[in-house]
Amino acid sequence: MGRCTDHGAAGLCQEPHREGVGASYGIWTVLHFRGQSGWPGPVLLRAPVNRSGPGHWAFNFPFAVMPSSFPTPAPDPHSLAGTGPARVRHLTLALNVDFATRTLAGTATWHLTHPGAADALVLDTRDLTIEAVALGPDAEGPALAFALGPADPVLGQALRVALPPGAAAVTVRYRTAPGAAALQWLASEQTAGTEPFLFTQSQAILARTWLPCQDSPGIRFTYDATVRVPPHLLALMSAENPQRLDPSGTYRFRMAQPIPAYLMALAVGDLAFAPLSPRTGIYAEPATLPAATHEFADLEKMVAAAEQLYGPYRWERYDLLVLPPSFPFGGMENPRLTFVTPTILAGDRSLTSLIAHELAHSWSGNLVTNATWDDFWLNEGFTVYFERRIMEQLYGRPYADMLQVLGRAALRHAIAEIGPASPDTHLRLHLAGRDPDEGLTEIAYEKGCALLLALEARVGRPRLDAFIKEYFARFSFRAMDTATFLAHLRAELLDAVPGLEAGLQLADWVEGPGLPAAAVPVASARFAAVDAVLARYAAGTAPAALSPATAGWSSHEWVHFLNALPATLAAADLSALDAAFRFTASGNAEMLVAWFAHTLRAGYGAADAALEKFLRHVGRRKFIVPLYRALLATPGGPARARRIYSAARPNYHAVATSTLDALLPQAT
Ligand code: BES
Ligand code: ZN
Repeated sequence: MGRCTDHGAAGLCQEPHREGVGASYGIWTVLHFRGQSGWPGPVLLRAPVNRSGPGHWAFNFPFAVMPSSFPTPAPDPHSLAGTGPARVRHLTLALNVDFATRTLAGTATWHLTHPGAADALVLDTRDLTIEAVALGPDAEGPALAFALGPADPVLGQALRVALPPGAAAVTVRYRTAPGAAALQWLASEQTAGTEPFLFTQSQAILARTWLPCQDSPGIRFTYDATVRVPPHLLALMSAENPQRLDPSGTYRFRMAQPIPAYLMALAVGDLAFAPLSPRTGIYAEPATLPAATHEFADLEKMVAAAEQLYGPYRWERYDLLVLPPSFPFGGMENPRLTFVTPTILAGDRSLTSLIAHELAHSWSGNLVTNATWDDFWLNEGFTVYFERRIMEQLYGRPYADMLQVLGRAALRHAIAEIGPASPDTHLRLHLAGRDPDEGLTEIAYEKGCALLLALEARVGRPRLDAFIKEYFARFSFRAMDTATFLAHLRAELLDAVPGLEAGLQLADWVEGPGLPAAAVPVASARFAAVDAVLARYAAGTAPAALSPATAGWSSHEWVHFLNALPATLAAADLSALDAAFRFTASGNAEMLVAWFAHTLRAGYGAADAALEKFLRHVGRRKFIVPLYRALLATPGGPARARRIYSAARPNYHAVATSTLDALLPQAT
């Protein structure tokens, strides 16, 4: 009987598996060990199968070892630490949050997986000031020699710490830069209240701008943290969270499940909590909390539906944090505490599929994690499919069908924009040497979901669901790369049916461009009704006369309507539509953005003030980038875009400004 290489347990170790990926095939178990010196690449072990979810087979080598036909997972091209000799397993973080200097300062103690096994620890950093490195669990230990490698604008700098024999923990004393890319420091005017606000956005490779860490999605660790903030402010993390203010201003956190660095998160602000069910609730600024509790009233139902579909929720609580409007994404699946944009507070619960999406990441992404950003579709494609299954469970098939049709339209748009022959439209990406941010497009989401829909059509829902549920259970708390996933898919689902893989055109999805012919069409009965209204409008019916048919439409029907309106409408046509349907005054951000595309193109000036207000207020990149693009394409647009951007830029997170600075170079 062997011993666990991570935890020392004899036999089958029940601790979460920290590194590499393992998959079982009959009596063969394939284990990949990544970057561990002294280990072979992937090995096939003739060992009993572990189908029990967390845990991995513990061994040292009484077994027969033979080379496997499975490829070695590629090393992560976006981590300078990922290939270093030592691995982290647990973090103890102690940070002071200083709004005056816009810095985080403190210590990060890294506990290592194989004490004494390596002579150096390599961590990713970017724009951090490293003040000292000490041996052991606190800053008082003996000083260790360290060096920062050359600075790369995207990857940052490797921090290499020399380890004496037997070293089990290393403490780094550091501070962040005021412009740290993961952090957004908001003045009180940029919030709904009267206090400043701070939040982090670590995905994809920004964790290293606020924490020296092994910033690769294939490397997991547990953590505890102590965070000191000004009085009256609450601190929250992707961890066990407080539900009320502590007058001391010191908060303690614990994340007992191992997570990759991109899921590290911190938010500090004037925040209040409202419970929704024993295990769910909402944090928001006090002014926003009532609207948020109304909007997300079905949160517990969503968690229950997700569990019913694909197995137990493994993170205990599920809470939402509603951020100020500058949050650069719709949502971010920080474990136990999804971060969301307030732009989904539409008042009518019409945009909550975004919550289903972030919740679904609690399985696809947070339990089974893309090994590198080249495998991003494994996170997002499964999550989009799962999101729509949750929505179907709660609101019915016709509702979910609308989401599928909008998603497919977004996919076609993305393929056209990226270029139908571009390798960036393959599911498996090749992002080495580039900023991963550039390659993480709609393709992973909607082409990934389309592949699962094509699979569903061929094997049937019961078999696909059983496959997905078992996949999440078997690979929980592990990294998954595309090649291992494909091998697993073949072994579990495809190989049993002759011709299935060929009919599915699996290789074309993964390594080929565009949308393969094997994709199944999606259709929506509710959108067919919208199309009938559009046909009447095209045939000359006045907008005001359409309204009986549009009564009861959700924002999805309206977005479909707006997207399908001809691009030839004149300002006078838009004026009539606006008079009938009050688009410019809409409180629904998705509708507004679809509407502004027309108003800008047609020069319908009555919407200009609303557009400018939107751009100054909202920092969600998915909305503002297309709006600035559309603005740039109008007569006099470049000057106007630059004027609005220079006023709005201080309200945007670095994730958004890095894209917009390239689009609007003169404004910075
Ligand atoms: N994990 C993503 C956000 C992300 C991706 C951040 C890549 C940084 C790099 C999150 O789950 C997401 O997909 N958010 C979407 C919403 C979703 C409904 C498509 C967004 O923010 O628009
Ligand atoms: Zn996502």
